[in-house]
Amino acid sequence: MKQARNRLIFALDVPDLYEAERYLRILRDRVGLFKVGKELFTHAGPRVVEMIGEMGQRTFLDLKFHDIPNTVGGASREATRLNVAMFNVHAMGGPEMMAAAAEGARSAAGETGMEKPAVLAVTVLTSLDSDALKLVGIDTSVEEEVERLARLAQEAGLDGVVASPREIALIRRACGRDFILVTPGVRPAETAKHDQRRVMTPGEALQAGADYLVIGRPIRLARDPVEAVERIVEEMEGV
Ligand code: C5P
Repeated sequence: MKQARNRLIFALDVPDLYEAERYLRILRDRVGLFKVGKELFTHAGPRVVEMIGEMGQRTFLDLKFHDIPNTVGGASREATRLNVAMFNVHAMGGPEMMAAAAEGARSAAGETGMEKPAVLAVTVLTSLDSDALKLVGIDTSVEEEVERLARLAQEAGLDGVVASPREIALIRRACGRDFILVTPGVRPAETAKHDQRRVMTPGEALQAGADYLVIGRPIRLARDPVEAVERIVEEMEGV
């Protein structure tokens, strides 16, 4: 079993390298991974991933690739060459696209001798409910769609999915113990929920079967981010 702190992913949702470096200095070696999303990557590019590496830390590159298989395969090779620990794609891109992502990661890791990153799928964005799914032509419930896409991701050779707290148990049942579940929407008991609607505490999410927790604002906006991390880690250790 991984150490609790290695299962904590800090969402580096900041606008530029300067802010990123500030949080990296404070939180290095206190969390398992730093998640870089579209805002920071679009602003700072691969440099931010290099900076995280130079500080001895690893990256979850949260760019949610979604394109034709050839393009996603190429993007996946480049993500792997950046030496990230994880990156993700949209399961809605289909099995061929997901297989191209897995193969891109495998081949680039083989060529460079780097460790293959975990390739994760995003199933249904948590911003979509069943009404929104209907509007784009999907008539099933969110739960059914999440389960279908998680199984599809696993069959296509992906390593896991990003899943909201309420989906963890469902996917764990469908995809088994070895499928990696990364869960945002986690809030320590006495902190604000912000715009997250269905939240779990770190302990509840681990108990439900999550492997990694993604937490941003409860740490970033805390008066003392280090103390906030240590409290979360303590709760994770108690599970
Ligand atoms: O600040 P907070 O803890 O809500 O940050 C959670 C992170 O996880 C953000 O980067 C957010 O974009 C991401 N995320 C999420 N819900 C999803 C998928 C990703 O909150 N369903």
